[in-house]
Amino acid sequence: MSKFQKLLWGCTIAAAQTEGAYNIEGKGPSIWDEFTRKSYKIKDRSNAKIATDFYHRYKEDIDLAASLGLKIFRFSISWPRIIPHGTGDVNTKGVDFYNNVIDYCLKVGIQPWITTYHWDLPQKLQDKGGWTNREIVNWYTDYVEILKEHFADRVKYWILINEGVVCMGGGYFLGVHAPGKRGIRNFIAATHHLLLAQAEGFRVLKQKKDLQVGTAISCTKIEPYRDTINDRKAAIRIDALMNRLFIEPHLGMGYPHEDLPIISRISKYYQEGDLERLKVDFDFWGIQTYTREVVKGTWYIPYLGAMLVRPKKRNVKTSIMGWETYPQGIPYFLERFAKYDTKKPLWLTECGMALAKDEDDQNRIEYYQKVIIGMKSVLDKGVNLKGILLWTLVDNFEWAEGYIPKFGIVELDKKTLKRTMKKSALWLKEYLLNIEL
Ligand code: NOJ
Repeated sequence: MSKFQKLLWGCTIAAAQTEGAYNIEGKGPSIWDEFTRKSYKIKDRSNAKIATDFYHRYKEDIDLAASLGLKIFRFSISWPRIIPHGTGDVNTKGVDFYNNVIDYCLKVGIQPWITTYHWDLPQKLQDKGGWTNREIVNWYTDYVEILKEHFADRVKYWILINEGVVCMGGGYFLGVHAPGKRGIRNFIAATHHLLLAQAEGFRVLKQKKDLQVGTAISCTKIEPYRDTINDRKAAIRIDALMNRLFIEPHLGMGYPHEDLPIISRISKYYQEGDLERLKVDFDFWGIQTYTREVVKGTWYIPYLGAMLVRPKKRNVKTSIMGWETYPQGIPYFLERFAKYDTKKPLWLTECGMALAKDEDDQNRIEYYQKVIIGMKSVLDKGVNLKGILLWTLVDNFEWAEGYIPKFGIVELDKKTLKRTMKKSALWLKEYLLNIEL
């Protein structure tokens, strides 16, 4: 079997985007439940009270994934479903739900992977400052301890925090995601605590032998608009923010303050030993990349001195997300990661393309074909890539964009919740069958 044939294929979903069942069987409110109450914050004025109703339909979705030939089913745990107040009492019905999901995956022969945090913080913890409160390092490690106790006997692969830069940037800097906080101070404090929490969470899980524990990193290719010193420097700053800030502290390289001067302010939140505590020897890295951004230096954007040049201004076609579709980012980041001082296995832990309701699904097939070419090219160069998880199985709640972008290879009828395979799902099934030949 070639290295390419050995790649494992799977899919990724997240609790807040799929489960629904937002207030039943003991679940406490999350920051996304609270955020979506103010409907003007979501493009189509929707919410995730029902979402795809994965809570009641998990068997159907897991069956679907298995029937396509996928071997991994990555889902996230909703912290407030397990611990409704964020700390303290455990909701046994919540634990039962995830036990059922895990057991069903195992029954149909698909490997369950857990993400411990995919952005749905318990609202009760946000009321105490959320990620800006250093206490969260303890709250999170206690939560991970409970997950370990209940699920680590059957789940081998764990991802701690999903896309730190996006949940901190969207939720604590720009305010466009829950909990809707803004400002550099919130962002910097929350980022330091999130990374510390992730490092401690890693240590908790690694107390159990044989677990494979990693993280999922959002990566965005950054390029300067013009070949000027000003634009090139701006690109270096934004690259440090988007593509290094959530990685290098864990590798023992500290925060990238030389290239991103504003981040020096993070030292205000240090306590003795923090930089040492941030070092983590992850078992693997998860890479997730969707688009490219082009930046221009400018004096009037505070802290960063840079602004994005919108794809439309660059005459580049965008997806319904407003993003330039950029599968070339996949080989770029896989190779870039392989150059960090680590031989660790790499996984594409998310990968996909959004289409509008009436757009031809053939576009998604073509996107995945380009992804495959990229994966083959990096394997040929010796990159230690192990597999690919698609984003996503069924169309779902795309955060502040509501249900407008369709990332699924399976269509969701929002009224009946009926699932129908799209062309891309059928293509994938055929493709996976043939890979083994
Ligand atoms: C990354 C996030 O992890 C996921 O929640 C989101 O839906 C996709 N990207 C698409 O934006």
